[in-house]
Amino acid sequence: MRDPAPTVAGLDLGLEPLPGEVLHRAHADLRARGPLVPVPFFGTTALLVTRFDDVREAFRDDGALPGGPTYRETVEPIVGRTFISMDGREHRLYRKLATPAFQSGAIARFGERDLVVLVHELLDRFAARGTGDLVAELTGVLPYHAISRKLGIPRARDEDMRRWADRLLDPRDPRGAVAAAREFTDLLGPILRARRAEPTEDLLSALAHAEIDGERLADEEVLSHVRLLFAVGATTTSHAMGNLLSVLLARPELLARARSEPGLRPALVHELLRFEPPVANLPRLSTRPLRVAGEDVAPGTLLLLGIASANRDPATFADPDRYDPDRPPQDVLTFGFGAKYCPGAHLARRELLAALDAVLERLPGLRSTSEDGARPEGGTLRHPRALHAAWGPA
Ligand code: HEM
Repeated sequence: MRDPAPTVAGLDLGLEPLPGEVLHRAHADLRARGPLVPVPFFGTTALLVTRFDDVREAFRDDGALPGGPTYRETVEPIVGRTFISMDGREHRLYRKLATPAFQSGAIARFGERDLVVLVHELLDRFAARGTGDLVAELTGVLPYHAISRKLGIPRARDEDMRRWADRLLDPRDPRGAVAAAREFTDLLGPILRARRAEPTEDLLSALAHAEIDGERLADEEVLSHVRLLFAVGATTTSHAMGNLLSVLLARPELLARARSEPGLRPALVHELLRFEPPVANLPRLSTRPLRVAGEDVAPGTLLLLGIASANRDPATFADPDRYDPDRPPQDVLTFGFGAKYCPGAHLARRELLAALDAVLERLPGLRSTSEDGARPEGGTLRHPRALHAAWGPA
């Protein structure tokens, strides 16, 4: 049985900032040491799964390594009981109810009808100014408003929802999180009652009228799922959008190509998701004896699925440390794999593209003016802190 004793002294994948290539160099070093490597993680020790095939297999075999037990400890105390902390039949039932609104057809319609309007409304607020922090103005806002719109929450409450979602997730302020959860419920309760009485086309109506074994979801079940979408859907997409603009601002020649070759933009997004995934390492707690990467792992071991490491595994990707939108498209592990594969992947990609299109159209001559904080950082959720930029004639 593997004894998890750390081998990489001083490098905590949960606590260190690990900006830019620092994380990726550490991952390369760890990958070279083996497929399963003990690493410090938030002051304790986790076993990092370093290689693409092993990370994919760990995601795929959710019978041996289910996600539910981990999310019952991390996400459930904040948002309530939802399908992310369930496994097996229960997971399938709830997931099926909550996710049709995120399938590709529904997202294509949402993209054309709502998303384009949303993103241009945000740019209207600051484009004429000529300078700004694209995180504060755009990437940290659009994904929250997009979820509000999908749910059918009145537009006047977009900013309230975003502030509450932010507080809900602030690990430094657990009391504030509880208060935010209550305010969230106070706002959504009356809207939910209205949708129960008179459904419209939105996701909140779909959840209000969804049934499991002939019974409607209770109010708390609906509200927990709404909190979940903000908690895991808005933050991740916001971070991915920040990473996309960060990488492009650092590569003016690619920004210029993005302007002149609109057909290249989906590849710029896909390659970004490989190169700088916003969920860089994903924890999973083992609950039974299992084998990972050919080694025995004891129950109670904290595993870290190294998504960012897998996405740069040289056994799978040629020249993996190069951000290259011209490489032939290949599957990446950014959205997971198997039963818990991210149901928001279409929405996330569509939002990234909408943001890129709008930035290119509305901010001519865009260039970075950041001194620090503009590189993606973090070993779990990964994103730039700020993206100060200027635009208009250079
Ligand atoms: C770039 C943006 C995103 C990234 C990188 C991302 C990443 C992921 C990953 C890696 C998983 C698998 C977790 C696991 O296996 O334990 C996941 C699951 C999930 N994601 Fe996303 N996600 C993104 C956007 C979204 C959006 C926009 C939504 C919602 C609208 C969303 C909702 C969810 C939910 C509800 C789950 C749990 C699925 C389940 O338990 O079956 N995500 N996501």
